[in-house]
Amino acid sequence: MGLREIIFRPSVFKDESKLDIHYVPPRLPHREEQLKQLLALFSSVLINPGSKACRAVLLGSTGTGKTAVALKLGEVMAEEARRIKVNLRYVYLNTRVLKDGREVLNSVLTALIPSFPRRGLSYVDMLKALWHCLEQGDLQLILTLDEAHYLMARQVKDVVYDLSRIHEQFRGAKRLHLILISRDESFLESLDKASQSTFKASIVRFNKYGMEELYDIVSERVEEAFQPNAVSREVIRMIADLASPWGDARYALELAWRAGKYADVEGLDQVLLEHVRKAKAEIHPEIRREELYALSLHQRLLLLAVARYFKRVEQAYASFEALMKDYRLICEEYEVKPSDEVVEDLYALHSQGLIVIKEGQVGLLDAPASMLEQALVELLNTGRLRWPA
Ligand SMILES: Nc1ncnc2c1ncn2[C@@H]1O[C@H](COP(=O)(O)OP(=O)(O)OP(=O)(O)O)[C@@H](O)[C@H]1O
Ligand SMILES: [Mg+2]
Repeated sequence: MGLREIIFRPSVFKDESKLDIHYVPPRLPHREEQLKQLLALFSSVLINPGSKACRAVLLGSTGTGKTAVALKLGEVMAEEARRIKVNLRYVYLNTRVLKDGREVLNSVLTALIPSFPRRGLSYVDMLKALWHCLEQGDLQLILTLDEAHYLMARQVKDVVYDLSRIHEQFRGAKRLHLILISRDESFLESLDKASQSTFKASIVRFNKYGMEELYDIVSERVEEAFQPNAVSREVIRMIADLASPWGDARYALELAWRAGKYADVEGLDQVLLEHVRKAKAEIHPEIRREELYALSLHQRLLLLAVARYFKRVEQAYASFEALMKDYRLICEEYEVKPSDEVVEDLYALHSQGLIVIKEGQVGLLDAPASMLEQALVELLNTGRLRWPA
């Protein structure tokens, strides 16, 4: 086959990017209610800007549309603001990749002022700079901090406190509005009591999707991403069926994408049930590639030790000592010195929901150890995972 035929060979996809995790579709079926609740919580930003500092906390398990709805809110609010001429900016940050309070402020400032100097300013200077930027531009800012539990785990909760009270500190109109997103509300416990109660009064919940809901979601996304008739109703039904125990739309869309790839490899113009079965054998909803990417080298090596241990030993829990043997072997294999911070790293894996630590023992979640091992080895050896990031 010539190069041109490879590039231009027919595909079941019309536009693969419509399945990308960063793409927000025009409609979010079965999330109308959550979007309405959020619009109600943030309406005063447009109707009476400066009068009230708005907040919301979005809670729900993985793949229930929290990030998608938060981004959609940004789109809707920005469009309305343009129409009625309110200076509104919407900034979305995933805090998983932000190390401390300075990095949070720096990312907000860079989003608002692309030429913002990166170095040299202290935390307090940056807070001041942010306030001046809002005042001078007569701006209203809605700031979404996604995966906010990472902030709390890193003890940078002060930044949430400071951002939510910035107008009190600098004595001005209320210009900064906050959305926090997480999988469960326990992360709020690390905030001070007053912040806890204001955030708890504005919780928007995202239930797991049921099978019929997943069916509707996948149908609409398939229509955008695949050629007409490439994906039958039976295929969509099977995908919805497989994803429904988790209620996770991301897993459903990943299955659809991967099944489509199998159809392309076989040169077929239709996705078959067998392609979905193969996709299911390769991916698991609890192995989330973004999370594996975010781990440090030693966290990856440790998680690999956990995976290898449970692949070999038929037990629900393992002691730290038993895992350390595997970990040291793996360090030898990858020719790195074992870390001195193994316990901290194990707790970091725990707080990210990748393992469970109970009474000093380590357990693995539902993900098959062999699939986790495969993903980690791939990541350690090539620095990449085969699935699209
Ligand atoms: N109602 C919906 N309609 C269409 N697509 C959806 C819907 N809900 C979720 N999705 C899609 O499913 C994927 C996962 O959704 P999203 O990223 O919003 O989940 P999440 O709740 O933020 O999960 P996590 O806690 O793991 O970050 C995204 O690709 C999103 O576009
Ligand atoms: Mg999310």
